[in-house]
Amino acid sequence: MTIYTGKDYQDVSRKAANIMSAQIIMKPDAVLGLATGSTPVGMYAQLVEWYKKGDLDFSKVTSVNLDEYKGLSGDNDQSYRYFMNQNLFDHVNIDKERTFVPDGLEEDSDKACAQYNEIIRKTGGVDMQLLGIGGNGHIGFNEPGAAFEKETHCVDLTESTIKANARFFESMDEVPKQAYTMGIKNIMAAKKILLMATGTSKAEALYNSLYGPITPNVPASILQLHPDLTVVADEDALSLIREKGLL
Ligand code: PGA
Repeated sequence: MTIYTGKDYQDVSRKAANIMSAQIIMKPDAVLGLATGSTPVGMYAQLVEWYKKGDLDFSKVTSVNLDEYKGLSGDNDQSYRYFMNQNLFDHVNIDKERTFVPDGLEEDSDKACAQYNEIIRKTGGVDMQLLGIGGNGHIGFNEPGAAFEKETHCVDLTESTIKANARFFESMDEVPKQAYTMGIKNIMAAKKILLMATGTSKAEALYNSLYGPITPNVPASILQLHPDLTVVADEDALSLIREKGLL
């Protein structure tokens, strides 16, 4: 495991973007595992900036995203497909046909998940998987208690997630109650993993994940067993690890 420290969000974004762009430069037809959430937004903006300067070429890149809400179409502004278009795909020369997100409109969960596993398999495997981390140690929608051996599966969103999302929708009926997510097994199969974390709200999860016992109660703790894990985090997220004298 290698840990890179950033001064702040901006610095973490730039360092993570450097690592991601090195991957694209070294392997122009790289398969990138991508993530949504507030953490990677700055990193995507940095990649877009470098692309616009002519320093990056996405024309041969393939991407597979971690997760998607079941029931949302890609043009719903709450969908993760929409997020990816807005934050990255619409601004670089990636071939959209080679950008994959689980199909939120497929109602048959088994079919949607089997299809997504097949898509990942057909890419030949993820070269670099980007991850954020939840305050409870979740990765993708793999919440505490998720089995390590799962591939893409359908998860029931927690009551608190459903409630938190309700403000973005006209009615409660429209709020997604389930999501499709890559499982821990898919994530661990990536050749390299790039984990980003910023802010004190992630300090405990980061400490538990990187230095605590490996347990499904802290889904990201499995990353300790990954042979090529890079962590980019700011001082706030690393504060507990520093306090314990581990860094
Ligand atoms: P965040 O989410 O980037 O919005 O903090 C990370 C996650 O929950 O995986």
